[in-house]
Amino acid sequence: MIIDILTLFPKMFEGIINSSIIKRAIEKQVITINIHDFRQYSEKKNWQVDDYSYGGGAGMIIGVQPIVDCLRSIPNFSEAKKIITTPCGLPYSQEKAISYANEKHLIIVCGHYEGIDNRITHYIDEEVSIGDFILTGGEIAALAIVDSVVRLIPQVLGNEESIEVESFDNDLLEFPQYTRPVDFEGHVVPEVLLSGNHENIRQWRRFKSLENTFKNRPDLLAKAKLTKEDKKFLEMIEKNEDFKVNN
Ligand code: ADE
Repeated sequence: MIIDILTLFPKMFEGIINSSIIKRAIEKQVITINIHDFRQYSEKKNWQVDDYSYGGGAGMIIGVQPIVDCLRSIPNFSEAKKIITTPCGLPYSQEKAISYANEKHLIIVCGHYEGIDNRITHYIDEEVSIGDFILTGGEIAALAIVDSVVRLIPQVLGNEESIEVESFDNDLLEFPQYTRPVDFEGHVVPEVLLSGNHENIRQWRRFKSLENTFKNRPDLLAKAKLTKEDKKFLEMIEKNEDFKVNN
């Protein structure tokens, strides 16, 4: 997969490209990431990219020319999926990450706190927001998108299973997990996990997954596919009851 990123702050991407899983994916040639400083495409004096807003107002607006010229410099840009990060965009989600991971070529234009001339929307496919909060620029949003997409590409994560069972699959949050020691400052690992009884462990994990979702993201429960067992567990959770092993 090829990912091209258009930004005024190329240095912000050095960390992610040179670290851990993303770095390995680049080295294995599973992905290529190209960072473009679109200021270099400005036709104005001193590579200026912003200008006054038509209609008035205090802020400056980034013009379309440098971004569009930068886009056009990317080989096969017209076939790529082109997105722009902005708090005004469609909500980003795991579902979107999966759909972007299936693209051969993704181009991300980083939005900017000054705002971008709205005509940029004629040159991209989608405006995307990573949440209901305002960042100083679209770079951190672009980083979040790159990270969540790249990890879904086959061969990027060593262990395929870690993708299969994770939060947001089946629209539920993940169950809690523990490692050694069994007792840390009096906080002990739930006994059922030490029992070796796989059916009890499965039930406990499902119960905790439902409980986490009920407490932190009840909105997700409305679209989750729930079994008879899930509904029984949810009734217990609503009554504040804890999981009980079925003997
Ligand atoms: N730029 C500023 N805030 C943003 C957000 N929440 N999502 C995407 N891009 C942004």
